[in-house]
Amino acid sequence: MPEVVLAHQVDFATWRSACRHFVLAGVEPEGLHWRVAATVQDTPWSAGLSQILPANPANPAPMSLSRRFVGVLGQALQVRDPARFTVLYRILYRLTHDGLELGHTHDPDLMWLRQAVMAVRADTLRFREVFSAFSAQKAATILHDTPEHYSLEANARYAMQRNARPWRVITPYRRMEWTGSAIRFAAGENATPDDAAVQWQEDGTGIWRGYALSVLPPKRGDVAQAASLAMLSAQAVDCRACGLWQPASRTVFGEGPQSASIMLVGEQPGDQEDQQGRPFVGPAGQILDNALHDAGLRREQIYVTNAVKHFHFVWKGTRRLHQKPEAEHMAACRVWLDAERRLVSPALLVMLGATAAQSILQKPVTISRTRSRLFHLEGETQGLVTVHPSYLLRLPDEASRLREYARFVEDLRLAAQYQSPAD
Ligand code: URA
Repeated sequence: MPEVVLAHQVDFATWRSACRHFVLAGVEPEGLHWRVAATVQDTPWSAGLSQILPANPANPAPMSLSRRFVGVLGQALQVRDPARFTVLYRILYRLTHDGLELGHTHDPDLMWLRQAVMAVRADTLRFREVFSAFSAQKAATILHDTPEHYSLEANARYAMQRNARPWRVITPYRRMEWTGSAIRFAAGENATPDDAAVQWQEDGTGIWRGYALSVLPPKRGDVAQAASLAMLSAQAVDCRACGLWQPASRTVFGEGPQSASIMLVGEQPGDQEDQQGRPFVGPAGQILDNALHDAGLRREQIYVTNAVKHFHFVWKGTRRLHQKPEAEHMAACRVWLDAERRLVSPALLVMLGATAAQSILQKPVTISRTRSRLFHLEGETQGLVTVHPSYLLRLPDEASRLREYARFVEDLRLAAQYQSPAD
């Protein structure tokens, strides 16, 4: 009986090419044995097998699978069930040879597939929430986790995008590390308990090719029910609600305590924020930090976010130039801002500039006419509109910069009244 040796638990590339080969050759599911290599030296299945089993021209051509279905298979391969390689192969075999259709909802194999995907999705969301909470603690660099399924590798890109600082995740079956420029994998702590003895291999090298990545675009219901900011920011990583996600490096979610009594809303992340994954860390953030300090506020006690969570830019040579977000970007991002407001429920919401004010107030706002006044927003929340700190950066002369900076600090002093002693 032919045996397929996979390089590791989620070796999707080898599993898939073996499936293509054996389905085409008409090898029945019972006629194939699957195994995961015991060590990295163990040889995974390779193209050499095509000499052993030439494709049978009498058999139909392999079906072409939709991208979505390939994604489903990649998720199901992560389920912690030793039979998964065989069941998934059987599904492909039956789709090709036995007239199985994906619409056969009561078919036992397809029912198993649905359960597997649901279990992996739940495990993935759980990991993302844990990882988001871990990322919010700026000093933390090592996360110990115990996934129920083999879901760690599929979260490599998620974790890198969520937290650009170096970190390491250690699980019983696998270690994953982001060095700040590369993802690396190694055996888990069950296989190599001694951290010093760990042998790292970079993603894309050695056996680390071709594992499937989990992309979980958020569902509105999940967003509306998210019980923590960690859960919310975990869901936002794969947001595809408008076109900005593709050119941007990552979703830049809000940051700060859920119990904050003051929430600041800016426009959208800039170049630095996009690279670091944190709001207001570039030049505008520098001004904001100084002004908060001069107004007697502490940034770590405030929840800071943006109306739009992806960087909108155009390339000019090698530079990325900021573009104002458009109405569709604000509309697409509203769901996040609403959910942040629901969870933080601030006593005061400060809108920095016209985009933030328009997004919150749902109408075009002239800053000069609206600024520096407290007004009732909703429930227990008051509103305050002021300028965006980058406005100060654009002023042409030192005198107007100083004058406008002082006005900005004055506005933030109004906000400081809302700082609770408990913050
Ligand atoms: N400008 C914003 O509005 N938000 C940021 O996070 C950075 C710059």
